[in-house]
Amino acid sequence: MIHILTGTYAVFRPGEGRDPAPAELDLGCGKGRFTLDLAARYPDRRVLGADVMIGRLRKVARKAENRGLGNLELLRADNLDLVAFQLPPASVRRAHLLCPDPWPKERHRDKRLVNTDFLCRLRRVLVPGGVLHLATDHDPYFADWQRLLAALPFFVRDDSAIADVADLQTDFELLWLKQGKTVPHMAFRYQPEA
Ligand SMILES: C[S@@+](CC[C@H](N)C(=O)[O-])C[C@H]1O[C@@H](n2cnc3c(N)ncnc32)[C@H](O)[C@@H]1O
Repeated sequence: MIHILTGTYAVFRPGEGRDPAPAELDLGCGKGRFTLDLAARYPDRRVLGADVMIGRLRKVARKAENRGLGNLELLRADNLDLVAFQLPPASVRRAHLLCPDPWPKERHRDKRLVNTDFLCRLRRVLVPGGVLHLATDHDPYFADWQRLLAALPFFVRDDSAIADVADLQTDFELLWLKQGKTVPHMAFRYQPEA
């Protein structure tokens, strides 16, 4: 099922009336390989796949139906709106941001999702101890993340927090790996008291 959240200001409640457990959130799930595999691996976890492109989400929805994945909900939403106000506070156990658009040109730099504002807003939806999982093939963006996160004491690096999904790949990651590129991952735990 695809929930259309673009242009709405209401709070979306994942699995309303069913399981209130914090979700795994894939921000910019694209064609959905990672999201689908995550939902299939952990049928007892609620997985949210978010993207702005409805065509991609429709394809992911069809694949989810074919695989009988009842624990996956798809959101047509803007990543920033989701973390800023569309998801309930402390509703996410792990946020995955994998191969987001790197906007490599200097004049497009302000289009990048990951900046201090986004990281601070993300705290609202993460549970204490929740995880931010990042990956990119774009070295300057990766270095930028390291610099930004090093300055935020409430995010503590902990790559062990993604060990259970280390073998799952996204569609873009697969593409880059086939081209001989590397796609480093890293993870940070949200520690509100830090
Ligand atoms: C480079 S693709 C990566 C897709 C997937 N994570 C992967 O690794 O295969 C980036 C995805 O983010 C989506 N996207 C871009 N900006 C977004 C935004 N502001 N909110 C939600 N999704 C966005 C795009 O539509 C696209 O599907």
